Amino acid sequence: MRALLWIALSFMLALPGFAEEVPDRAATGGAQTLEDIMARQRGEKIDDSFRREATGQGNVEALIGQLGTRGAASDAEVFRALRYGSADTRTSAPGPTAGLLIQDSGMKWLAFREGPLLRYGLIFLGVMMAAILAFYLYRGKILIDGPKTGRMIIRFDAFERFSHWVMGVSFILLGLSGLYLIAGRKFLIPWMGHGVYADIAEAGKWVHNNISWAFMISLVLVFILWVKHNIPDRGDIQWMAKAGGLFSKGVHPPAKKFNAGQKIIFWSVIILGFSISLSGVALLFPFEVSVFAKTFQIVNMTGLPNLIMGAPLPEVLSPYEEMQLSQLWHGIVAFLFIGIIIAHIYLGSVGMEGAIETMATGEVDEQWAKEHHSIWYDEEMAKAKDAAPDQATPAE
Ligand code: HEM
Repeated sequence: MRALLWIALSFMLALPGFAEEVPDRAATGGAQTLEDIMARQRGEKIDDSFRREATGQGNVEALIGQLGTRGAASDAEVFRALRYGSADTRTSAPGPTAGLLIQDSGMKWLAFREGPLLRYGLIFLGVMMAAILAFYLYRGKILIDGPKTGRMIIRFDAFERFSHWVMGVSFILLGLSGLYLIAGRKFLIPWMGHGVYADIAEAGKWVHNNISWAFMISLVLVFILWVKHNIPDRGDIQWMAKAGGLFSKGVHPPAKKFNAGQKIIFWSVIILGFSISLSGVALLFPFEVSVFAKTFQIVNMTGLPNLIMGAPLPEVLSPYEEMQLSQLWHGIVAFLFIGIIIAHIYLGSVGMEGAIETMATGEVDEQWAKEHHSIWYDEEMAKAKDAAPDQATPAE
């Protein structure tokens, strides 16, 4: 979680910097200048205290009495009070946003979503794919070193495979539809036109909103099924020290059912999966889940935001800001998650001989098991011997 927060903070640092020059507002009689407006639309932070504090007498009670009658406060003052949330607004609109008539954080959200999030997200995916290509060129397909025995050993039962594939297929559908939705305005609409884009986007949104449930359920199943095999232990250090033999032929450090690299994948899937699910549910049910203000309070207690950005994170957020942050967080986690899963899919399919069989049929050749998961292989053989003392192997 802390690592994810670090990433979020680094992304925030990538936001366009503070406007440096103070515009000459004398020309507008103290009101906003064109520079102010442009800077705000670019999503830059501007010092708006000259307006924020200019809401009539500064006396909210006095202002409320004048909202309908145009008393001493001017319209501009009324609008400022609305915009900066100092007017006690009562509207007939139901729901948690009823008291908020004007919010301008949408510009910052849009600028970040269309800018750094999309740019660095796509660059990250490109880097991951280039790294996998480089690994393939260097190492080639990881083959089974010894001769295959023809004797098969059961690695995953049907329910494990079912849970994995529900997660795999739903993740791929969510990833593709999500990327389609986020890249639309910038890349896809200029290329395919509004009409075609919108038709596919409608289907993509349906897929994204509904398939998410399959992903969340399978995430829980995978956690329950495999958590006991993914508790880190000393053997993992040994495995890591040899980089799992991934970079050198013939090197096979011992491993249990899951090796250290797979444990990293497992915990990444669980932590990122939980985080993306929570922010996704917040987006599915607008204004019902508000976690950022509370999270920022906790993060501020660590002192990190002050250290990195020179200011604490905001601890009071409007319902809209909660939604905007949920969307940005959802996007950041999604890019990271997709990047990691691309590497997993490569190694689980074309990158390693025999890997895909484990998830397709649930069985692997004993030689594969001996080379990649020797401790697990020995345990399985011992179990099979105990169950049927006269047979040497668990399954032929
Ligand atoms: C086409 C897509 C995929 C393929 C070919 C694939 C393949 C595999 C294979 C072969 C294994 C077992 C490895 C072994 O026997 O040791 C595995 C395990 C696993 N898969 Fe996938 N997978 C895919 C998609 C996904 C996705 C999308 C996720 C999660 C979002 C995922 C999460 C996991 C996890 C957590 C494990 C257990 C840990 C590990 O082996 O790394 N897989 N996968």
